[in-house]
Amino acid sequence: MSAHDFEGLLQEMIGLSSASVGASVIRHALARRMAACALPDLHAYWAYLNEHRDERQELIDCVVVPETWFFRDAEAFGAMTEHVRAREYGGRPLRLLSLPCSTGEEPYSMAMALLDAGFAAADFAIEAVDVSTRNLAYAERAIYGRNSFRGTDLAYRERYFEACEGGFKPHDRIRRQVRFTLGNLLGPAAFSAWPPFDVVFCRNLLIYFDRETQGRALARLGGMLAADGLLLVGPGESGVPSLHGYASARRPRAFAFVKAMAVQSVPATPEKARARRPPRPSLPPMAESRRLPPSAKPFARRSAPVELSTPAPSAAGADLAAARLAADAGRFAEARQIAERCIVESGPSAEAFYLIGLTCDAQDDETQAIGYYRKAIYLKSDHREALAHLRLLLQRQGEEAGVRALTRRLGRLGEGGDA
Ligand SMILES: C[S@@+](CC[C@H](N)C(=O)[O-])C[C@H]1O[C@@H](n2cnc3c(N)ncnc32)[C@H](O)[C@@H]1O
Repeated sequence: MSAHDFEGLLQEMIGLSSASVGASVIRHALARRMAACALPDLHAYWAYLNEHRDERQELIDCVVVPETWFFRDAEAFGAMTEHVRAREYGGRPLRLLSLPCSTGEEPYSMAMALLDAGFAAADFAIEAVDVSTRNLAYAERAIYGRNSFRGTDLAYRERYFEACEGGFKPHDRIRRQVRFTLGNLLGPAAFSAWPPFDVVFCRNLLIYFDRETQGRALARLGGMLAADGLLLVGPGESGVPSLHGYASARRPRAFAFVKAMAVQSVPATPEKARARRPPRPSLPPMAESRRLPPSAKPFARRSAPVELSTPAPSAAGADLAAARLAADAGRFAEARQIAERCIVESGPSAEAFYLIGLTCDAQDDETQAIGYYRKAIYLKSDHREALAHLRLLLQRQGEEAGVRALTRRLGRLGEGGDA
């Protein structure tokens, strides 16, 4: 029995990759728990863990990283309010999720931002989920010290908090907007009964997962997010969603994404959005989220076979596979370099153009991305990923005819299900 066995167990339970936090963090946690349980060594602790399911929770509480603060990456909250203002929800309350919510700063910030934007309490409800009972207890107690208030603009604290012993407490009208639940994003059948969410904050969690687990997490989140919902991740993981069926929502520094295949209606213009009032409270039943089968998700396969429009020399194929791997890992400059070299050395191919388009897309260079996706489709008319991404970009630009044409094409390919 060694610390590696515990690392494996933690990865299995909550997805934690020991490489992300460092093996020493896990070793310290093990030492603390063995001392707390008065156990002499790892063998004894392993047996104890197997006999006492509650101890698993204690170990989890010891290894998770609770770091968070109010209005962390403030642009994300602006992106949330703009997104929901620009859409019609038929008068029903908005459903928002903060997972992981840690000690509560994130979901309470969501509530403050929505109230500031003119939404009434009855207009929205926030579910907040975390795998740590310790963090959730802190969130429910809701007394926050200096560390939770960072940055210089703390005007919100004057409006929404009262000073108390030990720090500041959010007003009840903020706390009532948030419901906390213990939950594991990767747990068996977690959250499958919950209706879809209009906005999901899943920030600073994917960084603790390995690549395979990130894919599973995003698939799970995809099932929880409404077809035209907004997903927000942290800056350190912003390269991940576009590899798993999401596309950038074009909100600078917000790290916001929408489902790449979820072309619903063309989003409201900013003018319409500004004119729109927050939704009124009334409660028609919510539709079940329409899920795409994994095969229909543009980036569902992590190492998809490289399809070329014309038979390419195997060296180019291998290079393009490397380019895709680099893009998968968020190393877009490297991916682009390889793809461009392939074009020079082996001639144009759909995959190379598509990958270059992806790198432009990742850098919010919409015009270039559209050009490259079109080139990919020109060479390979059934390049699903290029079609799906091009459709999303055209949708953003209000090119309704183009969107309809691409939807028809994707439909013929059997992947238009969510359109
Ligand atoms: C760094 S905090 C992020 C909090 C907040 N989202 C933010 O960005 O400020 C990471 C949180 O993820 C939680 N967590 C870790 N693994 C989880 C899992 N598998 N499911 C749900 N929560 C998890 C931890 O308990 C911790 O509170």
